[in-house]
Amino acid sequence: MSPFLLTRTLPEDATEAALRADVLRGLTRTPKTLPPKWFYDAHGSELFDRITELPEYYPTRAEREILLARAAEIAAASGARTLVELGSGSSEKTRYVIDALSDLHTYVPVDVSESALTQAGHALIAERPGLNVHALIADFTAELTLPGTPGPRLVAFLGGTIGNLLPAERAEFFTSVRALLSPGDALLLGTDLVKDENVLVRAYDDAAGVTAAFNKNVLTVVDRELGADFDPGAFDHVALWDAENEWIEMRLRSRTAQTVKIPALDLAIDFAAGEELHTEVSAKFRKEGVRAELSAAGLELAHWWTDEQGRFALSLSTVR
Ligand code: SAH
Ligand code: AVI
Repeated sequence: MSPFLLTRTLPEDATEAALRADVLRGLTRTPKTLPPKWFYDAHGSELFDRITELPEYYPTRAEREILLARAAEIAAASGARTLVELGSGSSEKTRYVIDALSDLHTYVPVDVSESALTQAGHALIAERPGLNVHALIADFTAELTLPGTPGPRLVAFLGGTIGNLLPAERAEFFTSVRALLSPGDALLLGTDLVKDENVLVRAYDDAAGVTAAFNKNVLTVVDRELGADFDPGAFDHVALWDAENEWIEMRLRSRTAQTVKIPALDLAIDFAAGEELHTEVSAKFRKEGVRAELSAAGLELAHWWTDEQGRFALSLSTVR
């Protein structure tokens, strides 16, 4: 196999059809909602990378600390020959695991962002001669067909991206991940942990306004792809802590009463002054909750590691 392959698992028009369906469904319901996967065009992926460097955004640094400390243990426990990473983005932290897996044959990054996959894939094959990279442009919430590379398989889902799924979506997701695993395979999962509300809100409402730009970028995506006339400047970024659900919510609040036209859907959407469009939840976890969700899908928590400050956890689960 050539060292870098990029496979689009769905035709490009399927992505556009999915966006149209999500925008139609999401903007004609109350409250108005858009799924977070549409943040990540090339600019959104770049903005996310800038978020990971912000002083307020601790999850990336905390997870990197754990990966650095535990890469050898993860490698010894999994012995993986194929590493599949869901929502791989820049694959930056994954390099610790890649380097520790001495028998690694193929790395399979899976992401909706073609730009992130291309950049990360080219960088990796240049840095790691001999490593096969087979990238998949795919939605990890849909059914995945993985390349027929040798086992054991380690599926990594890092960054706390699991928290961007709602509880019912998480249950479905864990069940489909379980279906990708055979005995001897494992899941490496990053989960951000419940902590002080102020620390959490600051991480999603940074002083430099990068998260605000990331949040508003979803409007730019809808403008470009569906010819809409959203003015990102006419919305304010909102980040709040929902203590009952233990998640951060990001919203976009309309500054005035306004009507947005979406020609590709033949739609005009009215926003009242102050009306909020829900764009993302980012759930925070506790160990027993993670264990229970995994267990419900037939996965058994085998290792639980946190950073020194106890902000973020990485877990390794096996097939029950
Ligand atoms: N794992 C990286 C990136 C996290 S950002 C890290 O820990 O830093 C979330 C990533 O998931 C982005 O690259 C985004 O494009 C991707 N993503 C979001 N929703 C997705 C979906 N439904 N299917 C596939 N990739 C998705
Ligand atoms: C990708 N995901 C884990 C990020 C998070 O923290 O929920 C996305 C993000 N949203 C705002 N800032 C970062």
